[in-house]
Amino acid sequence: MKHCLFLAICAFVQCKAAVITDGKIIEVNERPIVGILSQEQSFYLHGKFPEENYTSYIASSYVKDVEKSGARVVPILIGKDRSYYKELMKKINGVLFPGGATFFNQSDGYADAAQHIYEIAQELNDTGDYFPIFGTCLGFQLIIILASGRGKVENRADCYSYTNLLLIFSSDFRSSKLFKDAPEDVVQILANEDVTINVHRYCILDSNLEAYNLTVDWRPTSYGYDDNAIKFIATYEHTRYPFYAAQFHPEKSSFEWKLNKNYAHSMNAVKANRYFMDFFVAECRRSTHEFADAAEENDYLIYNSPAVFTGVLGSAHHQCHFFEPRGVVSG
Ligand SMILES: *[C@@H]1O[C@H](CO)[C@@H](O)[C@H](O)[C@H]1NC(C)=O
Ligand SMILES: *[C@@H]1O[C@H](CO)[C@@H](O)[C@H](O)[C@H]1NC(C)=O
Ligand SMILES: *[C@@H]1O[C@H](CO)[C@@H](O)[C@H](O)[C@H]1NC(C)=O
Ligand SMILES: *[C@@H]1O[C@H](CO)[C@@H](O)[C@H](O)[C@H]1NC(C)=O
Repeated sequence: MKHCLFLAICAFVQCKAAVITDGKIIEVNERPIVGILSQEQSFYLHGKFPEENYTSYIASSYVKDVEKSGARVVPILIGKDRSYYKELMKKINGVLFPGGATFFNQSDGYADAAQHIYEIAQELNDTGDYFPIFGTCLGFQLIIILASGRGKVENRADCYSYTNLLLIFSSDFRSSKLFKDAPEDVVQILANEDVTINVHRYCILDSNLEAYNLTVDWRPTSYGYDDNAIKFIATYEHTRYPFYAAQFHPEKSSFEWKLNKNYAHSMNAVKANRYFMDFFVAECRRSTHEFADAAEENDYLIYNSPAVFTGVLGSAHHQCHFFEPRGVVSG
């Protein structure tokens, strides 16, 4: 304990004690709340709920994967102005951009909301307010597109990977933030068994980072090969901000069950994949943001929009949460 010192971290109205041991900050928040960004209602599920005409949805697998690492979840709606995201981010401890299938060029959609969040997270961090982001699959691609500057040309490549793969770690992955404390047995599973679940037709290549001068800020830590032997980045992290992403789907091993998808469900797959949200929620525990009180928390938490069993309707998602029904617009 001789290298232990106590540090007061002040966030807004209150101060909490953080413990630094050998330069490492231990958690300061044992009741983390993670925001998960919703996205445009899928075409398939719109057909199943035509009367409700929901604006957006979140697949429950992302919610449960965060919950199993000890956090609660607040849904983040799309189509709001910047102040909505800014106010909400003062109350939550990190944001997950989930995967899915939506275009980035739709106005007031997933990409516009993510851009607000990405920019606000940088502003928070630049004032010393630690705010982590994790991007999965589509969210993984979107973060690099946001870092590139959204334009007519999207800085990502075509790919085809709908299979379970092992990770090909970069030579220096053990010094990355994401993997430096990963247990050796988890690393061995990821390196030797096909446990990462890929569902993507775009990817980010080393050349995408090089073309937009992103190699200083963004560090690839593992790779995979698609069906056409294209080497894509499987995980990357920002070198300064607490921003992380995975091209594969850590949440599917434990929480998605569509039979014909052949997702990896072995005990080793479950064990290795749970590492990613365990890591991300640990990062969120370093944020001291909080809601005013339990009543305000309750107003925002995802339990207000209970999961619907969509697997039984044929959806690739076993359960989903739906938001903001618009109803049928007549005439
Ligand atoms: C958005 O991009 C998709 C795919 O490139 C394209 O098919 C669609 O027309 C675009 N929509 C708009 C509004 O530009
Ligand atoms: C925020 O990011 C900057 C880099 O832009 C970094 O130097 C600083 O340590 C970060 N602050 C926190 C609180 O993580
Ligand atoms: C690339 O980024 C580095 C570091 O931010 C900067 O010094 C350099 O000028 C940039 N190069 C180009 C071509 O934009
Ligand atoms: C669903 O809501 C959107 C937005 O209000 C509207 O444009 C569309 O017509 C609605 N769909 C139906 C079937 O009413």
